[in-house]
Amino acid sequence: MGRMNEPPRLPGGSFAAWSRDRLALARRGADECGDVWQLEPGVYVAATAGPCEAVLHRAQDFRKAPSPLFPPLKRSSGAPTPEQRAHAHAARMRGLRPQAVAARIGEIAPTASRFPDQWPTGQDVEILPLVRHALAEIGVRYLFSEDAPTLLPFASQLFLAREVLVRPSRWVWPRWIPTPARRFRTRQQVAFTDALRPIVRRRRSSGRLGDDVLGQMLQPSSRYGLLPEEAILDTLPGITVATFEAPARAAGWILLHLARHPQAAGRVAAEAALLPANPAATTSTHLDSLQYTQALVREVLRLHPPSWLLTRRAARQTQLDDYTIDAGSTVLVCPYTAQRDAREHSEPDRFQPERWLDDSDSTAKPGVFLSFGTGPHGCEGAALAMAMLTLLTAQTARRYHLSEPPGTEPSYQVTTFEGLATVGLRLRATLRS
Ligand code: HEM
Repeated sequence: MGRMNEPPRLPGGSFAAWSRDRLALARRGADECGDVWQLEPGVYVAATAGPCEAVLHRAQDFRKAPSPLFPPLKRSSGAPTPEQRAHAHAARMRGLRPQAVAARIGEIAPTASRFPDQWPTGQDVEILPLVRHALAEIGVRYLFSEDAPTLLPFASQLFLAREVLVRPSRWVWPRWIPTPARRFRTRQQVAFTDALRPIVRRRRSSGRLGDDVLGQMLQPSSRYGLLPEEAILDTLPGITVATFEAPARAAGWILLHLARHPQAAGRVAAEAALLPANPAATTSTHLDSLQYTQALVREVLRLHPPSWLLTRRAARQTQLDDYTIDAGSTVLVCPYTAQRDAREHSEPDRFQPERWLDDSDSTAKPGVFLSFGTGPHGCEGAALAMAMLTLLTAQTARRYHLSEPPGTEPSYQVTTFEGLATVGLRLRATLRS
């Protein structure tokens, strides 16, 4: 059969052009070719809301590759079975779903409110390491509560291992070659697992399983029974890093917007003034009252989705819109261009938190907001991420005026390789009077 219905190919689009400036090429593809376009033979981009949603929901046709970042360790007794995976996923979600997060706002808020204390005032400070540290403290505590201090140093090492692994390179080594980066990753994963194992055993033998996410994973389920220790240990390094990695990228963009939009920052500060003086007394009702702050966080995530490009592989020949997609093709889902589509959002490139406060841009409309993905592999931590980021933003704006270093050049580089981030971003905090 001839290839009757191929998605349009972008003139001048090539792997070289893609490597030079992926965001620019993604925008050009969406502008010039429309909903679905072709980067090179067998590599397609879903550029707008409709096809993005379709690809993410049709998980049988468009498969997500398992994350190679923290593969099961060799000495674990084989990969978890599909039943164990389903059990582990359900258990984690009991701890991460919106109601569970809402019940634990009082644990998240104190660390978020300490973040401004760690920020030296009156000088330009590189902000991503600081904010990553604060978010790791919140995330690791959310997963492991009183065992968090033991695990936090190992979690930072896992993050470093991940950084080294995702450095861009044209050469992808076959998975079995133990490159130095992979050996470092495995060592850090073993160290984290070794620190976690005695915690799992102590909780199980004492019967005090805990009210945190680990506690949920230790609970027997009526359907699957108890999860084997190794199935718990294998899944947690990835989740641990997930609690602070994309959130730190998001926080970089948020703080940059506070610096560039002083009026918006003032409005966040005014809302934050109503938070209780004792952060541990913060509840989900307080969080819900930070409506403008939530809208600002959402608006920054719309314009700068930290995971701006998601990868799928076609499991069989299938249709997307009116196009034929061959088995084995790569389909890239692009929340970045989907969320800057004038048919979905008026003045799509403008930063306008208010758009989330009226009904016109309801988050419930399909495809309007894809920064957390959607469908069976949608983000497990969306509620936790929104809570952490909203509280951190509110507490920062309440205390400080932020500004960028003087000069015309930005202090940061936008990286697009794994996620959309402001690497090197420097900001200055001065006390709000
Ligand atoms: C602003 C912060 C965050 C953003 C923008 C974000 C974004 C995303 C996106 C777009 C996906 C879907 C990936 C895909 O379909 O290929 C995803 C998946 C995931 N996220 Fe997040 N995330 C954030 C925070 C978190 C947090 C705090 C956690 C903590 C538990 C988390 C855990 C996960 C997990 C476990 C998955 C994989 C789900 C699966 O494959 O079934 N994320 N995230």
